[in-house]
Amino acid sequence: MPEILHWKKARVVGRFLWAERLFSLRIEAPEVSFTAGQFVSLALPAPAGSVEPMLSRPYSFVNAPSSVQGGESHEFLIAELPQGTLSPRLAKLREGDAVWIGSAYGFFVCDEVPAADSLWMMATGAGIAPFLSLLRTDALWQKFPRVVLAHGVRQARELVYPEVIAAVQRERGERFFYAPFVSREVLRPEQRGIFSGRITTALVDKQIEKAAGLALDKETAQVMLCGNPAMVEEVQRLLAERGMRRHRMRVPGQITVEAYW
Ligand SMILES: Cc1cc2nc3c(=O)[nH]c(=O)nc-3n(C[C@H](O)[C@H](O)[C@H](O)COP(=O)(O)OP(=O)(O)OC[C@H]3O[C@@H](n4cnc5c(N)ncnc54)[C@H](O)[C@@H]3O)c2cc1C
Ligand SMILES: NC(=O)c1ccc[n+]([C@@H]2O[C@H](COP(=O)([O-])OP(=O)(O)OC[C@H]3O[C@@H](n4cnc5c(N)ncnc54)[C@H](OP(=O)(O)O)[C@@H]3O)[C@@H](O)[C@H]2O)c1
Repeated sequence: MPEILHWKKARVVGRFLWAERLFSLRIEAPEVSFTAGQFVSLALPAPAGSVEPMLSRPYSFVNAPSSVQGGESHEFLIAELPQGTLSPRLAKLREGDAVWIGSAYGFFVCDEVPAADSLWMMATGAGIAPFLSLLRTDALWQKFPRVVLAHGVRQARELVYPEVIAAVQRERGERFFYAPFVSREVLRPEQRGIFSGRITTALVDKQIEKAAGLALDKETAQVMLCGNPAMVEEVQRLLAERGMRRHRMRVPGQITVEAYW
């Protein structure tokens, strides 16, 4: 394989399967630095005859930047799309296999979000990835006194990284509220604490606000949305009813977004 443009050759050093078609890859990639919330392109050689030598897609870092010191391994949470081009190939990678990595990029980062009394992170599916990185940075907690993480998935087993979330909960106590949502599974009585349905429904009936004991309003809150573009759109529409709008450099607002497709 000839040296390819800006791609750095990296190696898979770990793999974890959360559910069918939902997995994490740990990748050893020297000299890749990033800010929490950013993404990077992962690539594999394109099939023979392709115009581009490499087939790549963006994936958000799950690990915090500080975790790289000494280890140089990064973690990614990936949903395998059955008809997808790259994700089924990434799903086949095993420890020791090569994968190529680009440079970190993106503005879904703490510095781009104005300070507020509370930060509301809302994710669907693998869209929780950048929040897992951000939650493990001190900068986030220095900027926001309270943080809410709402994560919507189809099945309870897709509520990934419970140990990371539990560690944040232990460290931050009442400053942190985690609201998991399951939409396509009947919850058992012992699954207390998991909400049934979609994040959007819970915004309308203020379920999360009541449970967190915190108001979501334009005077005190900032919102970050990540994942399914339909969720990203719908939440923005619902928040517009509360007078909230996209935050842009020239026109400040309360909502920062990252749509995954
Ligand atoms: C900034 C950014 C960060 C991202 N980070 C992650 C991440 O951390 N983890 C992750 O799993 N994915 C992430 N994605 C999505 C990822 O880049 C790919 O789009 C995804 O893995 C599908 O690639 P594919 O080649 O398998 O499918 P493709 O052949 O490219 O896509 C098939 C079609 O499926 C749709 N699609 C893409 N992603 C999804 C999805 N998750 N669910 C349903 N439909 C989809 C698209 O409209 C596309 O046309 C991110 C996307 C962006 C833009
Ligand atoms: N992410 C994963 O955990 C995972 C695992 C295996 C395979 N995959 C594959 O990846 C693709 C996407 O999977 P996904 O689970 O991430 O899908 P998704 O369709 O984005 O669903 C994730 C969660 O978002 C909710 N949702 C969808 N549209 C919404 C909207 N407009 N507003 C609010 N909430 C909304 C879903 O609720 P509803 O159930 O009500 O739609 C579900 O709870 C699929 O092809 C799937 O086969 C994903």
